[in-house]
Amino acid sequence: MDWVNRLFIFILGIMLLCFSCSQSKRHQVLSIFFDGVESPDTTAAGRISGQGGNAKNDSESQLAQSTPTYFYHTIYQQKECSACHDSENANKLIEELPDLCYQCHSDFSEEYEYLHVPVAMGECGECHHPHLAKNEKLLIAEIQALCFSCHDQDDLRETETHSEIGETGCTDCHNPHGGEDEYLFN
Ligand code: HEC
Ligand code: HEC
Ligand code: HEC
Ligand code: HEC
Ligand code: HEC
Repeated sequence: MDWVNRLFIFILGIMLLCFSCSQSKRHQVLSIFFDGVESPDTTAAGRISGQGGNAKNDSESQLAQSTPTYFYHTIYQQKECSACHDSENANKLIEELPDLCYQCHSDFSEEYEYLHVPVAMGECGECHHPHLAKNEKLLIAEIQALCFSCHDQDDLRETETHSEIGETGCTDCHNPHGGEDEYLFN
């Protein structure tokens, strides 16, 4: 009756696979949820101390322990929401981007001769999350992935300079915001 045993192990294997699959799916879905805006009371505070915080149930506290650390925009962490949102006007932004950001950060258009197009367009949000992110500098993705979300990887790899970009970061040579020439060199 060896085949019965094999069948049993096979079915057990499938079940395990399905289980881990649904776990990671759920994790993914929840991660996306947490990438969005969450009250810092339930995420930031708990996450920073590495504890589940006031998670409502077991799966949430498990999640709090398994999700990566987040980097916070200082003012978001300090709950200075009104630095950017107008609570008297449906929490709309008090100013449009990039001017909103330039209230506190130096204006790149004054700093550089050439501006990276998304910066010139005020699309800070194409690269930075205004509240919190899993990557340093509030980046919504790791640097190379970020660049390749707009620049075609295959095209770029054809140029001699970039044939080995698999191993070097883009910001070793290029400034993500602007520069003194069209190639935005550092
Ligand atoms: C540095 C400026 C800044 C600060 C500080 C800030 N926000 Fe935001 N917030 C933004 C921007 C930019 C958006 C995106 C708006 C858009 O796309 O129209 C946004 C969007 C939102 C949204 C809409 C959902 C979303 O993700 O698009 C909510 C809700 C929100 N913020 C809540 C808060 C709360 C609560 C705080 C304080 C704890 C806060 N924000 C602090 C800049 C900020
Ligand atoms: C009210 C002031 C204020 C506004 C408005 C503001 N920031 Fe900031 N931002 C700060 C402060 C304070 C820091 C922390 C600076 C430091 O630690 O040197 C910071 C840090 C950052 C950092 C670096 C984070 C890090 O980990 O080093 C980025 C990126 C950033 N802000 C992007 C933005 C963007 C994009 C906007 C517009 C949506 C914006 N900021 C609007 C005050 C502001
Ligand atoms: C094409 C992607 C991209 C866009 C668009 C972009 N940034 Fe950045 N930003 C970066 C990257 C990448 C870094 C990290 C640079 C590093 O660590 O070398 C960064 C870093 C920063 C920092 C941290 C200080 C510094 O210079 O390292 C601030 C503040 C900042 N960005 C603000 C802004 C603002 C404001 C806008 C919109 C006007 C903007 N960024 C648009 C990619 C971008
Ligand atoms: C939101 C889209 C977007 C992202 C993200 C982005 N870029 Fe760009 N970048 C552009 C656009 C649009 C141009 C204008 C030229 C073009 O269309 O290729 C440009 C131009 C450039 C140029 C100048 C090339 C020229 O021919 O003038 C360099 C260099 C560059 N980007 C590097 C980067 C690097 C490095 C990153 C990652 C840190 C990055 N880009 C991320 C949209 C983006
Ligand atoms: C070792 C330095 C170096 C690194 C690292 C680097 N680049 Fe470049 N990049 C250059 C030089 C030099 C040019 C000028 C044109 C050329 O030689 O291809 C350039 C040009 C560009 C252009 C304009 C291309 C064109 O044909 O007009 C883009 C876009 C670009 N780089 C994006 C990136 C991205 C994205 C990364 C990271 C994956 C990256 N670069 C990494 C040196 C570098």
